[in-house]
Amino acid sequence: MSSKEIRNKFLEFFKKKGHAIVKSSSLLPDDPSVLLTTAGMQQFKPYYVGKADAVRDFGSKNATSVQKCFRTSDIEEVGDNTHLTFFEMLGNFSFGGYLKKEAIRYAYEFVIEELGIERDRIYVTVFAGDPTTPEDKESYKIWHEEIGLPKEQIRRSGRADNWWGPTGNEGPCGPTTEIYVAKSPEDAKAGIGVEIWNVVFNEYFKDKDGNFNKLAVPGVDTGMGLERLVTMMQGVDNVFETDLFASIIKQIHEVSHDLEPSVIRILADHLRASIFLIADGVRPSNKEAGYILRRLLRRVLAYSSKYDIHADLFTLVLENVNEIFGDIYPEVKNKEEILNVYYEEKGKFAKALSDGLKIFNNLISEKKSQSFVENLRELVGLKKKVFLSGYDAFSLYETYGFPKELMQEFCKEKQIIFDEAGFDEEYKKHQETSRAGAEKKFGGHGLVLDTGELKAGSNEDMEKVIRLHTATHLLQKALRNTLGDEVKQMGSDINPERGRFDFSFTRKLTEEEVKKVENEVNDIINRDLPVYFKEMPIEEAKKTGALFFFKEKYPNIVKVYFVGPKGGSNEKAYSIEFCGGPHVEHTLQVGSFKIQKQESVGAGTRRIKFLIK
Ligand code: SER
Repeated sequence: MSSKEIRNKFLEFFKKKGHAIVKSSSLLPDDPSVLLTTAGMQQFKPYYVGKADAVRDFGSKNATSVQKCFRTSDIEEVGDNTHLTFFEMLGNFSFGGYLKKEAIRYAYEFVIEELGIERDRIYVTVFAGDPTTPEDKESYKIWHEEIGLPKEQIRRSGRADNWWGPTGNEGPCGPTTEIYVAKSPEDAKAGIGVEIWNVVFNEYFKDKDGNFNKLAVPGVDTGMGLERLVTMMQGVDNVFETDLFASIIKQIHEVSHDLEPSVIRILADHLRASIFLIADGVRPSNKEAGYILRRLLRRVLAYSSKYDIHADLFTLVLENVNEIFGDIYPEVKNKEEILNVYYEEKGKFAKALSDGLKIFNNLISEKKSQSFVENLRELVGLKKKVFLSGYDAFSLYETYGFPKELMQEFCKEKQIIFDEAGFDEEYKKHQETSRAGAEKKFGGHGLVLDTGELKAGSNEDMEKVIRLHTATHLLQKALRNTLGDEVKQMGSDINPERGRFDFSFTRKLTEEEVKKVENEVNDIINRDLPVYFKEMPIEEAKKTGALFFFKEKYPNIVKVYFVGPKGGSNEKAYSIEFCGGPHVEHTLQVGSFKIQKQESVGAGTRRIKFLIK
């Protein structure tokens, strides 16, 4: 059975059972509480909580889809037989249509009758219950009494195995029942097999404070990883031998020399995943989804250089991906744009590398001159000459995106000892500090507002960051009025303590300029101008002369925020910007504005931190 047949079989089966076939949503979700789409249910979150109406939107309370997913949790594991970053998930969903009985029956019927797996080779698990949530006795009963599955093929398990969700810091969640396939009936009875299907009963809603509340209308959310299923159905050893990957693997072989299997798999996974991310509008950057893409691409580039792989690797694999997926996910056919993004990142990486390489060489020569004892030792053949410490290596990695793989390589070439364990330790330390920082600031709770730019942990914080946000728009305009149109937004980050605005400009502002900007912002605030938005097609929005952040990807309909008299022409508005909001309603609400400090962040970019009272 080809992967295409399996996708179709699944969708057609559930269509027959009264499900609407819904297209995969983008890897970039609408849901701000998650970076990327990690499960089929994600696009359906509003239907589970009654915020949207499935019957109105797709004519049924039941839906089925094949969803593009991306999980970062396994990124370090890629290279073995099973782990992937990008994958597809088959799913059926119900929002108040049916519950346990039908969900279990459908799954069983599909596995046994459509896939033809022998009944004695499966076993299932159900939620055993714990002090906060009762055991799922109903599912057990359905499997045993209605389906007639013998007790030896039903196992109970705790929250770690039989509970799902929520995605992000709040949302639907609940107990699961999972189907496993074993090699033999004996294995099935012993509980030795592979999980293929996760059937979730969304009976609860977990809120931001961690409380589990019963959902008014419980729902069903199931997920079956396509890659694993295809591996099993095609009777091959691992996913890389299936028709989802075989031609990509072959292609990589053809353009490289004797790579280790793990490297080939990493390349295959990262290339495929990057192509899908770019196709859905992700662009390499230093944060969030953009950072994930950058990491994937830079790893591919680092390997390409380390193993001297043919320069056409990306282009050729893009062709393979088009052959395998083009008619299912037409967005990958946008080859020109995908290649542009790749080449641009390749250029940036080359620059970062040459900068990094200089620093790398300096680090090493400094060490050479410093380390008299080491040189002496080397003279008597006791020890290698130089040493790249974990700390130095990590700074290179952090500042220049200099990949670890390349450091290993250069060190080997130059006979330098690379303290890899030290590097890993620094990496871990860094991750922990940033996590601890975020948790401290927000008391370990989820954020009530997180747009990427604005972050707030409570309603009080939220009010403050919204005021700071409006101040950011005023600041940008005042900077342009004072310094000229070369000022463009390069980034912004707002938390309850302060606003931060990065912009293109080549020198430090004089004291007079700082004063002038401050006065202008405060003047606009005191005029108490209305702040409002209009939604319009992106082309029309551009014509208003609105400022927009060129790095960002915008949808077809955008929100444009105006600060200025309502109903007046665009020219009369003080500030016009593409923006998702939220903002205050009139400028006096911002309070008084003060620039706290200015600094440089790299060539041609300045940063201003500001406060409001
Ligand atoms: N949401 C569940 C999962 O991702 C079932 O679809 O496994």
